Amino acid sequence: MDSSLNYNYKIVRQFAIATVFWGVVGMLVGVFIAAQLAWPALNFDTPWLTYGRLRPLHTNAVIFAFGICGLMATSFWVVQRTCQVRLFSDKLSSFVFWGWQLVIVSAAISLPMGFTRGKEYAELEWPIALLIAVVWVTYAVVFFGTIMKRKVQHIYVANWFFGGFILAVAILHIVNGMVMPASWMKSYSMYAGVQDAMVQWWYGHNAVGFILTAGYLGMVYYFIPKQAERPVYSYRLSIVHFWALIFTYMWAGPHHLHYTALPDWTQSIGMVFSLILLAPSWGGMINGIMTLSGAWYKLRSDPILKFLIVSLSFYGMATFEGPMMSIKTINSLSHYTDWTIAHVHAGALGWVGFITMGSIYYLIPRLSGKKEMYSVALIDTHFWLATIGIVLYIASMWIAGVMQGLMWRAVNPDGTLTYTFVEGVKATFPYYVIRVTGGAMYLTGMCIMAFNTFMTMRGTVSVDQPIPVGTGHAKAANDAAVANAA
Ligand code: HEM
Ligand code: HEM
Repeated sequence: MDSSLNYNYKIVRQFAIATVFWGVVGMLVGVFIAAQLAWPALNFDTPWLTYGRLRPLHTNAVIFAFGICGLMATSFWVVQRTCQVRLFSDKLSSFVFWGWQLVIVSAAISLPMGFTRGKEYAELEWPIALLIAVVWVTYAVVFFGTIMKRKVQHIYVANWFFGGFILAVAILHIVNGMVMPASWMKSYSMYAGVQDAMVQWWYGHNAVGFILTAGYLGMVYYFIPKQAERPVYSYRLSIVHFWALIFTYMWAGPHHLHYTALPDWTQSIGMVFSLILLAPSWGGMINGIMTLSGAWYKLRSDPILKFLIVSLSFYGMATFEGPMMSIKTINSLSHYTDWTIAHVHAGALGWVGFITMGSIYYLIPRLSGKKEMYSVALIDTHFWLATIGIVLYIASMWIAGVMQGLMWRAVNPDGTLTYTFVEGVKATFPYYVIRVTGGAMYLTGMCIMAFNTFMTMRGTVSVDQPIPVGTGHAKAANDAAVANAA
């Protein structure tokens, strides 16, 4: 049969499998570095096992391997289904898959070897950064090319979020990646001093805003209505949500640089925009949760829906906490402490992790021609293990963080410090052990997901499905708007 009459599911399946695989790897490194913080001897005096090299390996693996493979899988699924057309180009999409895997493997080799640009979330040296730029532009061509040739007039809101994420990441990566190479694996930033810091955190914060937020909101607006079999609560609100969010995020970066050499007024702008961000974030969260109106009972029996809805609760939690932490006086307590790590992982494990897992659980049976996952009970086990794991992780880090902040600032009546730094480290030890336990539970859940995925996909031959025909523009637009046309 003419392949143009089918959706390209092969690429979605490849990315879905990669998401699960890299999830296990990235979280395993996470648990290992968490254990190193409790028991430093675990670096075995081996340079490539040291914390300083494995920490960026963890962040790169979970964000760029697990996170972005999940975004690529879901965006390629959603854009085809809601535009009712096959991907713009099979060859280019295949290049995106293999090119991205090459980026990940290069990171997994170069980071433990100690090659780094020293910029958080932008560590990869210039030859790999160049490869990222080429793969990313190709991804944009495939995604927007598919939108251009769509059979449905309306562009469904999930595609706006995915599109915003793709465009913003291209700009952020290129601007923050301006370097002067000194050798094959060493380069220096084109920006100097405080400008370099500002560009870096404009990049860093928008990586949170556009990768860890906007892209996943694309998942929210497609997979929650689909799984709940209900239209989005308010389509109008989703459009306001999109524009408000992308406008506001761009200005909030300086909250990462409070009390630094950055001009004071810039820090204040960052703080004010962070506070404003609460509104669109919560508007979006409420819109997602209210989509379940009239279908709340499904939460009792549908573990996939549990993942999707609980992810939004964590999103709400992280986007309430973030604006609070951006207030300068609060930041003077939280900065440098494990409170930041608690905030990060409320977002990363609860929001990013859960929405990805829920969406991939939705996709896997459909990509293997099965009715449902191999074991629904195992999805439920995964959900509870992960939920308890997150609570252990973030509660222990909250307590540790506030304790560290208070210990560091405590002074005796004569002005000397009440505690030495090492007393703070000793006091944190039990919380680090609790974090390892929580992380190990979260990782176990991910391994269960890998097993369940393997068993579901076993024996899959072909999964491409015919594109529906005969939908008129007006009807299709309306159907797409409630995510039911696909
Ligand atoms: C089993 C699960 C995980 C464990 C045990 C874990 C553990 C850790 C540890 C120990 C750190 C270093 C903290 C420090 O330097 O004090 C860290 C940092 C980080 N992790 Fe995870 N992690 C896990 C999953 C994830 C996931 C799924 C994501 C993202 C989707 C993520 C994103 C990050 C980020 C962005 C940082 C850097 C935070 C910062 O610099 O403030 N982690 N993680
Ligand atoms: C309204 C939304 C949010 C605001 C205003 C916000 C604000 C903040 C603030 C003030 C910090 C601490 C900066 C510092 O002291 O160094 C921070 C750190 C961080 N946040 Fe958020 N946050 C928000 C949502 C999120 C979400 C949803 C995630 C998703 C995972 C996230 C991920 C992170 C990460 C990874 C860091 C650590 C950055 C680093 O130092 O490496 N944030 N955020």
